[in-house]
Amino acid sequence: MSGRKPYGPRQPGKRCHLAAYFPGADTTTVWTGPDAKSPIEFSSFEHLARTAERGLFDFFLLAEGLRSREHQGRIDDLDGAGRPEPLTVLNALAAVTGRLGLAATADATFNEPFELARRLATLDHLSDGRAAWHVVTSSDDLTGGNFRRGGYLDRADRYPRAAEFVATARKLWDSWTPDEAPRPFAHQGRYFDIAGEFTVPRPPQGHPVVIQAAGSGEGREFAAATADVVLARHGTPEAGRAFYADVKRRLAKYGRAADDLKILSGVTVVLGDTAAEAQERAATIRRQQVSPQRAVLTLERLWGVDLSAYDPDGPLPEFDPVADPRPARGRVRHGEAVATAGKLRALSKEKGLSIRQTVIETSARQSLVGTPEAVAAELARSVREDAADGFVLVPQLTPGGLDEFVDRVVPLLQERGVFRTEYEGHTLRSHLGLPGPVGTGGPHDDRTDHMTTGPTP
Ligand SMILES: Cc1cc2nc3c(=O)[nH]c(=O)nc-3n(C[C@H](O)[C@H](O)[C@H](O)COP(=O)(O)O)c2cc1C
Repeated sequence: MSGRKPYGPRQPGKRCHLAAYFPGADTTTVWTGPDAKSPIEFSSFEHLARTAERGLFDFFLLAEGLRSREHQGRIDDLDGAGRPEPLTVLNALAAVTGRLGLAATADATFNEPFELARRLATLDHLSDGRAAWHVVTSSDDLTGGNFRRGGYLDRADRYPRAAEFVATARKLWDSWTPDEAPRPFAHQGRYFDIAGEFTVPRPPQGHPVVIQAAGSGEGREFAAATADVVLARHGTPEAGRAFYADVKRRLAKYGRAADDLKILSGVTVVLGDTAAEAQERAATIRRQQVSPQRAVLTLERLWGVDLSAYDPDGPLPEFDPVADPRPARGRVRHGEAVATAGKLRALSKEKGLSIRQTVIETSARQSLVGTPEAVAAELARSVREDAADGFVLVPQLTPGGLDEFVDRVVPLLQERGVFRTEYEGHTLRSHLGLPGPVGTGGPHDDRTDHMTTGPTP
């Protein structure tokens, strides 16, 4: 760690990183209206990725869903369009982008290290060093049902397995020597016992970038020990700063400097020419996101019973959620459901909100609503006050939801000196200013041609 800083007060000139999340099967997305296009056609992915690259973003992240959400035996309508496999999509995007990092969400519970390490190494080669792996740890038995072994993983085992998974994958990536010769590998641990030869040469980045979205204490510890990037989502700037300080402070224990791990905060932006116009647009979007049916469905998930007789414009159920007949199988625990339901009821009573209004109030994801100037100022402040090292934009519309931000906010961030005006390196590690793993020559690669706008290969 010599020469590199532990966590502490920051310089006022700190710059930010930007990433984009492909909106998917969730209430952040507006699914209806003339501008809402297919969430599965390649043209949608391509448009968003090219826009992110035009905005000089660090990376583009695809979510993973290994099981469609179901409710009372029916596939949730938000999952109705399906859930394409992220690495396959990103391999195709590697061909139509030149600098943008390509991040695939992939589960450490249901995959195997050899298989996933091979696919991530391949993406890193195809994209010339732009691959990232967003490690997630689903553990529910519904997802488990789709896999040969069935069942689910105890919550307590999620991060121990994920840690061993990442360590094993890194061992496989390291098994090829720099002169491109494979050496046999062997790993014996609690979760994996494998020995053989890895089939893909060492990835251009050495190791693809590892991303994690920590919430729990175990998740944060895993991130501090293992991840290059952490994705966070917070309701208030104070919560953001507290999370940031907590995760950065954990790094020293693992011999890591504060800058070795970047914390990107999820943001959803609604712009307007005036503050009032932005507020009006935000209210319209919230109503589009939470239809009357969706509001009731959201409560049904929590309550665990059919609430279709309830009026979305009326009050919440007075009774508590029912206990899951199969407790402790990776679902929301009954106690948590009762507590959450209690909070929703209290909020609706305090503010006089209907079912739909309560769901809108509690599930709306619009962190920044305002003029481009106000949004740019808030993002800059957040970075310079150490609430984040950057942001993951979660657009509300596919595929045009990033256009306005890139056209109107990115130039303001650049004017303020908060964001790059050109890509300075080629690899994702270089964009993120991350130290390379041993043997890759540090954060900045030596190719000098700078790129200021997205390529059109
Ligand atoms: C921005 C963001 C994106 C996420 N994407 C996924 C995803 O695609 N698939 C998934 O299974 N979990 C996803 N998660 C869930 C996280 O991996 C993690 O489980 C969650 O934040 C709770 O933290 P914990 O695991 O420490 O309890 C995401 C979380 C965040 C904040």
